Amino acid sequence: MNDRDAASAPPFVTGYGYTVHENASLLDRTTFRVPARAATLIDVHEFDAVPGLLAEAAQRGREVLVCGGGSNVLFTRDWPGVVLALRTRGLDIVEQHAAGTPGDAALVRAAAGEIWDDFVHWTLAHGLRGLENLALIPGSVGAAPIQNIGAYGVEVGEFVDAVYAYDRTANAIVRLDRAACAFAYRDSLFKRENGRYLITAVDFLLPRARPLKLDYDGVREELAAMGVVEPDTRAVAHAISRVRTRKLPDPVTTGNAGSFFKNPIVSADFAAALKGLHARIPVWPQADGQAKLSAAWLIETCGLKGFRDGDAGVSDQHALVLVNYGGASGAQIWTLARHVQQCVLARFGVALEPEPLVV
Ligand code: EPU
Repeated sequence: MNDRDAASAPPFVTGYGYTVHENASLLDRTTFRVPARAATLIDVHEFDAVPGLLAEAAQRGREVLVCGGGSNVLFTRDWPGVVLALRTRGLDIVEQHAAGTPGDAALVRAAAGEIWDDFVHWTLAHGLRGLENLALIPGSVGAAPIQNIGAYGVEVGEFVDAVYAYDRTANAIVRLDRAACAFAYRDSLFKRENGRYLITAVDFLLPRARPLKLDYDGVREELAAMGVVEPDTRAVAHAISRVRTRKLPDPVTTGNAGSFFKNPIVSADFAAALKGLHARIPVWPQADGQAKLSAAWLIETCGLKGFRDGDAGVSDQHALVLVNYGGASGAQIWTLARHVQQCVLARFGVALEPEPLVV
């Protein structure tokens, strides 16, 4: 089909399991809250509708972008194709493993459109452990494996048993076990092969007995401040929610996508050389012999914490978070992001890589 045919093709029409909005605002669809429009926005409630919608979009020559909770995307322009917003719901315990044995765990299946934080609390209420440190992360279940969300010493990939996804190359639903997902720091197969997989559901293997992870800076202190002497998973989730609320700007009031940059991983030699020049620089040695640096520290040391250009800014609460104070466009935020990258590169010789998808 040529461009003229695509332009004159009949519009998408709402059908079973999905709702179509033409020329739709995306402002309320992403946590950055920047003004952008999609030529077509489709809310999908039944995953079965997806293959047909993809085929229809292909026939019309329209490019498809998949959006979950919109907490990890920055639109710097309008999207001329189709945005699919996956809103499928469903939480199930699909398998119970023997109670009281080392394999005492449950296999839980969550649909991609479930809200991550609600899901975390649902697992804790069912006596399952592991996700408590990942409380209050914005976004959906389906987005969690894409960037292997992590916080306070835990990464989600550790608990993922398998991901179910529609593979746009094979045109079929596939099951990818944890090894196939190739999880790494804020990275996975889904991020590397951007656009190929549409995640439909995620299976988590969650233990009933597991020591709490309280070693990350500030977690024990928060529990003590709450007067908790013997913490359980729910107290930990509560403590972490309190720390996050205090340290990170709330996307409900100030548009943002959490950390805008990844913490850079560099060679041990390079990290040692930087440490020689800047004694206070935080350096976390990695299992593979490399070293992780604190992007927030690099940005703050460049004097950029709280820096503001119009309504685009570097948060004054946390230097790793870029914020929209109200009227910033995605392009303005992206201009600010490049300024931050240039300053850090010039001062420290370190290239910062964005964490969200920049459209
Ligand atoms: N720091 C600064 N200035 C700041 C903030 C932090 O210099 O404004 C330095 C301090 O030395 C601090 C260190 O950075 O000790 C680490 O700060 P923090 O504990 O906040 O962690 P982070 O490395 O900046 C990562 C994740 C966050 C996650 C926290 C807590 C990435 C890119 N970010 O941030 O994840 O919540 O650890 O586990 O790995 C996200 O991905 O959106 C996110 C918020």
